[in-house]
Amino acid sequence: MTTARTALVFSIVAVALSAASYFHGRPAAPPSDKVTTEDERAGYLPGLGEIMTQQQMRHAKLALAGAAGNWDLAAYELEELGEGFDDIVTFHPIHKNIKQSLTELVPQFTKAPVESLEEAIKAKDMDKFNTAFDAVTAGCNACHQATEFGFNVVIRPANSPFPNQQFAP
Ligand code: HEC
Repeated sequence: MTTARTALVFSIVAVALSAASYFHGRPAAPPSDKVTTEDERAGYLPGLGEIMTQQQMRHAKLALAGAAGNWDLAAYELEELGEGFDDIVTFHPIHKNIKQSLTELVPQFTKAPVESLEEAIKAKDMDKFNTAFDAVTAGCNACHQATEFGFNVVIRPANSPFPNQQFAP
């Protein structure tokens, strides 16, 4: 082998080795429970429709728990419903062609009725619960009307769609 050819072979091997160490030797990203970049958000964030589907489930469970006088479960489901609304404000402050921001719309339609439902649950007062629950439902529908999604009509469930959960205390 001539000196020039030997040098060429060495440099090819060197390039191959450094490429291999680049691909295999890159440290793995540290585990994190935080969303870091816009791309990751776009990849992992549930859309508003998905969060609403969760809200629909909580709303139904809340009705069933309240009807059964299961105040602990009702308090829990209301807390979850509130967290869902917080997520909407955090992750979907604006949506499609809706003119007002959801940051304003969510409290506008949910704050007062959710607070009176909270009080009714604390007081374990069935009549107050029913009135406040209907006001929460009316808030859901008023916001759907205001955002031109009025064809999504929320109602109180007549019976449980959850065969694997007990609602009686
Ligand atoms: C801030 C206004 C607002 C409030 C308050 C609100 N919604 Fe919605 N909801 C929307 C919008 C906007 C959509 C349409 C989202 C989309 O584009 O997919 C929607 C969609 C839905 C859907 C359809 C989801 C699907 O994909 O089938 C359901 C069910 C729903 N909401 C339930 C509820 C319930 C239950 C409540 C009250 C506990 C509620 N929403 C409160 C604005 C609201």
